[in-house]
Amino acid sequence: MNVTASTRGTLVQVWSPYVRLFHWSLVLCVAVAWLSSGEIMKVHELAGYSAGVLITSRLIAGLAGSGHTRFHQFVHGPRAVGLYLSDVAKGDEKRYLGHNPAGGAMVLALLACVAGIALTGWMQTTDTWWGVGWVEDTHKILGNGILVLIGLHVGGVLLASLRHGENLVRAMVTGRKRAPSPEDVA
Ligand code: HEM
Ligand code: HEM
Repeated sequence: MNVTASTRGTLVQVWSPYVRLFHWSLVLCVAVAWLSSGEIMKVHELAGYSAGVLITSRLIAGLAGSGHTRFHQFVHGPRAVGLYLSDVAKGDEKRYLGHNPAGGAMVLALLACVAGIALTGWMQTTDTWWGVGWVEDTHKILGNGILVLIGLHVGGVLLASLRHGENLVRAMVTGRKRAPSPEDVA
């Protein structure tokens, strides 16, 4: 879909080295934190705090960075996300060089979820919040609920890869994607 003779074979840089390092480090930290929860708490806390530091760096890069790293480039309102999803349902959604509107919304949801988990995890180590029911519950609900977000995220990545005939996972490794054709959104 959307592959024209003029763009086939030409690759352009989309994801900066920072975004790629951020992404795969975050995946590692969340996986280690989740697997070590209630088991090896030193590892759990280290991985969880590292995830928190990564999220903080991504917020700064999203506000002050450039190109496809900027939130401004890929964060859309609920209406645009809804229209995009209805185009997906009809099978005629546009190809985006950066995150598509639904992907952008998912990026925000993942960032907010990890931030909430790390914050409520840290709160449990303080005298003020230790043993407080809603803090523990929020940490548990978000800590397990993130699996649902991750499932939807990976499902969306695979669907978009199939629809536009490109390997988005590889693009998150190499940083490069097929150059946009005129009907794509750059
Ligand atoms: C702990 C699990 C994961 C989390 C928290 C996560 C989080 C994120 C975030 C925050 C972004 C936005 C990147 C940025 O602009 O900075 C992203 C993008 C992306 N992630 Fe993940 N991710 C996870 C797992 C995965 C896995 C397992 C895959 C591979 C199957 C994957 C593939 C991708 C791809 C391909 C993109 C770019 C999507 C696009 O082309 O718009 N992610 N992810
Ligand atoms: C991305 C980061 C994190 C994830 C995904 C995560 C996930 C989880 C999960 C799934 C649980 C088990 C909940 C249950 O019983 O069902 C848990 C428990 C817990 N987490 Fe985290 N967590 C993260 C970060 C942190 C941080 C930064 C801290 C503190 C520094 C922390 C402290 C705790 C504590 C104290 C518990 C209760 C352990 C127990 O008594 O069994 N977590 N976390």
